[in-house]
Amino acid sequence: MAPTVNTPGRALVFIGFMGAGKSSAAREIATVLGRRPVDVDRLVEQRMGCTIEQAFAARGEAWFREQEERTCVETLTAAGEGDVISLGGGAVQSTATRAALARHTVVLIDVDVGTAWLRASGRGRPLARDRSAFNELYASRESIYRELADAIVPGRERGTARSALPWLRTLQPGNRLLWATARSGSYPVLVGPGALELDPWPAAGRPFVVTDEAVGELHGDRLDAEIEIAIPPGEEYKTLATVESIARELARAGAAGDDHVVALGGGVVGDVAGFVASSYQRGIPVVQVPTTLVAMVDSAYGGKTGVDLPEGKNYVGAYHQPSGVLVDVRLLETLPPQERSAGCAEVIKTALISGGRLWERVRAGHFDDEETVLDCARTKLAAVAADERDSGRRQVLNLGHTVGHALETATGYSVLRHGEAVGLGLLAALRLSGLSDLRDEVRELLVTAGLPTRLEDAIDVDDVIAAQQRDKKRRGGSVPFVLVYGPGDVREGQAVDEGAIRAAVAELNP
Ligand SMILES: NC(=O)c1ccc[n+]([C@@H]2O[C@H](COP(=O)([O-])OP(=O)(O)OC[C@H]3O[C@@H](n4cnc5c(N)ncnc54)[C@H](O)[C@@H]3O)[C@@H](O)[C@H]2O)c1
Repeated sequence: MAPTVNTPGRALVFIGFMGAGKSSAAREIATVLGRRPVDVDRLVEQRMGCTIEQAFAARGEAWFREQEERTCVETLTAAGEGDVISLGGGAVQSTATRAALARHTVVLIDVDVGTAWLRASGRGRPLARDRSAFNELYASRESIYRELADAIVPGRERGTARSALPWLRTLQPGNRLLWATARSGSYPVLVGPGALELDPWPAAGRPFVVTDEAVGELHGDRLDAEIEIAIPPGEEYKTLATVESIARELARAGAAGDDHVVALGGGVVGDVAGFVASSYQRGIPVVQVPTTLVAMVDSAYGGKTGVDLPEGKNYVGAYHQPSGVLVDVRLLETLPPQERSAGCAEVIKTALISGGRLWERVRAGHFDDEETVLDCARTKLAAVAADERDSGRRQVLNLGHTVGHALETATGYSVLRHGEAVGLGLLAALRLSGLSDLRDEVRELLVTAGLPTRLEDAIDVDDVIAAQQRDKKRRGGSVPFVLVYGPGDVREGQAVDEGAIRAAVAELNP
């Protein structure tokens, strides 16, 4: 059934690759809204008087695409507020359909190519018969979906789209929503100029802002807070002593179990405030508002919180997923250049993990715009969704961190910024991966980003190896090395011998 003709407002339109679960998501949402979903594939079949497979066989793909385009454009032109529509996987290849989508809220139901193949193949679908053609089709459409999407919702489980609905309905043009999922909970990530006014607000009760003195001074007034607790800036303050001081301030201010913390700052604030929230009165929600590039592309998502001990980085901590992450890249305008550079290391790391569109953007020098931030967040969230507790796939996010963390620990956390250490760690990981051309390219990217490619003062390789061994023990003795086989092909759990690690670290010395 076609939606109401000429209804004003924005419909929710679900797009995505075959097998993503667009029709199920649309049905789920329509049920909640008390509407009938419009499945454009079924509408085209009704109009053609045959199935899509029969149309492909009898008249060819081009003819089918014409029928599909006409139906999409008519449906989208007539659709408005409250309508719920799902499009066929290939419909977005039409320019006219893309233009008709512009006035609606477009929701990409995200699926990885392996899962899509498992779901779509062997069912007579004409474009899901040959695996390599299927992979190529996926790669060719990926950017189109991503560019059209106002919201990205993982297509993994039933109920996911329904939990995102309150934020899908209120999403304002110019802002983008990523729906983050993990075993222990799902939450909205809003990226855009309206992010700090997320509606509905993702946590109940009163907001207690934790920030650092520099960020509080610059951006504290962006949030309407019950109280603002400002810690001194810097990794040196990512300690248990800071946790105690924040918890005591919360207690003195009367923060209760039904209130929440808002972490406004870089990775240090996010990690410390998140850890306080995980344990204050046995756990209260935390909303992350990242203000550095490191935090916007990495640390604000995924729920790892914690503090350092002199014996090891991030040695005391907890998993505590945020209730929401609000990202306004305009906050980066005040970030000192060295801090921006430090963030670029995490961006390069994430681009190597992701490959595809993000890698191409980063190679072209787009380190810190909204598109890159969004793609990095999406890459990280996909790894967290697959493995919240870091026992498998999530470990790819440690690319460059095994040596990077050891360098930070061995230099007492006061010589290298986290991002600078990660940049050096990436060079070590690429050396261990045996990819010299890619290592050269990454070295050039680090230079462009203003990052060091060698240590300023020589470091004792034994100290780095000892720090790395402690890191390994913390992970239960497993070998956590992450190696690169190519952009987009990064594998965790790779065995590497100590001699090779020593050589890779020694190479970082001046
Ligand atoms: N939890 C995770 O998953 C995760 C991931 C990556 C990194 N981290 C942690 O993140 C930390 C590093 O984070 P970081 O690089 O954001 O450092 P940071 O939090 O120390 O911030 C860097 C500096 O920038 C200043 N600053 C922040 N935002 C600003 C702004 N908008 N304008 C002006 N100044 C601003 C801060 O005051 C600080 O001096 C490390 O402790 C690292 O271990 C955690």
